[in-house]
Amino acid sequence: MQELHIKVPGTSETSYRIAIGSGLLGSVWSAVDMAFAKCRRFVITDASVAAAGHLNTLLQGRDAPTYVIHPAGEQSKNIDTVVAIVEAMERAYLGRDTLVMALGGGTVGDIAGFAAAIFKRGVPVVQIPTTTLAQADSAIGGKTGVDSSISKNAFGAFWHPAAVFIDVATLQTLDERQFRAGLVESVKHGLIADQGYFEFIETHLDAILDRDMNTLETLARYNCTIKGRVVEEDPLEKNERRVLNYGHTVGHAVEAAGDYALLHGEAIAVGMIAAGLIEVELGLSKPDRLDRVRRVLEKLGVPVKLPPHLAEDRVIDVMRHDKKAVDQWPRFVLLDQIGQVHCENGQYAVQVGRKIVEKVLTKLK
Ligand SMILES: NC(=O)c1ccc[n+]([C@@H]2O[C@H](COP(=O)([O-])OP(=O)(O)OC[C@H]3O[C@@H](n4cnc5c(N)ncnc54)[C@H](O)[C@@H]3O)[C@@H](O)[C@H]2O)c1
Ligand SMILES: [Zn+2]
Repeated sequence: MQELHIKVPGTSETSYRIAIGSGLLGSVWSAVDMAFAKCRRFVITDASVAAAGHLNTLLQGRDAPTYVIHPAGEQSKNIDTVVAIVEAMERAYLGRDTLVMALGGGTVGDIAGFAAAIFKRGVPVVQIPTTTLAQADSAIGGKTGVDSSISKNAFGAFWHPAAVFIDVATLQTLDERQFRAGLVESVKHGLIADQGYFEFIETHLDAILDRDMNTLETLARYNCTIKGRVVEEDPLEKNERRVLNYGHTVGHAVEAAGDYALLHGEAIAVGMIAAGLIEVELGLSKPDRLDRVRRVLEKLGVPVKLPPHLAEDRVIDVMRHDKKAVDQWPRFVLLDQIGQVHCENGQYAVQVGRKIVEKVLTKLK
């Protein structure tokens, strides 16, 4: 037998630029000119982002082939939308020299990133996130995809952006509930990686909720640094990247068991309280640490308990179907302290007995 070794270009060998600012959307087009001079552009956004005026700000009167996803939001995050986008790109005679520009929240970013990943075997995508969730989380890290009728993100690809432009001014038009829910991922970043960041959030909650631009820029810088560092270490989620799933094991189950009535960030808030209660049960933490986290989430106005009509056994059942479950039971990311994830034998997602989780869920009622 002979062996040949072909080097697969590693994602760690390339890097991409993340620009953060307030009011930079109007200059994104010309900023992209420098790096992608030879590319033809295709813009993807959704109806609400366009109605909020951000598409006009991006285009500045230019004419570019554009696909506006309608209706906005998760219900369009399916393969039919991707097919429609790819066909629109073909109708515009676009080829492999195309650059996709994704303007919107995580829904647009995931759909557009996936369409870019598969269009003519892959063209670059620039992410221009416009929600607190997308600016903190989904625009960075290269996960793209759409839902099937059975599960979320059933179709997907790792497709890292060629560049990311974060304009915190776009957040001014985001509705209050979405704005607050998306901030939960920022709290998560502080908890898993940086005590100083968590304290910054704790002490600047009023400015954050007032959407003070300087404060939002600071959040964006912290978020990109933390998520960027974790993704750099583990681009394909073999181990370290799992720390980003803090609060997500119970959170995803709460989100799905409640038929997605809660927004993602809202469900993750409940999941982070569950993780905190598990930490107390296992002696990893004293209750006062959890009280600090709960205070921040309460001030953000996101739920810290299970929705009243959601039965615990329904949540447990969904957890048994978790895609990362081993023997029908998922693993958990836990904290040793604020800013530091608990690690067992080099693993960041650890086993927690079902009895403990059941007990914790009863405390979440
Ligand atoms: N790829 C990843 O790593 C990753 C991580 C987390 C979540 N996600 C995905 O992200 C999606 C959720 O993203 P989201 O929370 O950003 O929601 P979203 O993109 O659905 O946006 C929420 C709503 O706000 C509107 N909107 C967006 N920006 C606006 C603005 N600036 N002004 C006014 N309206 C605006 C949208 O049109 C939509 O109606 C989910 O599908 C989730 O699976 C992906
Ligand atoms: Zn999340």
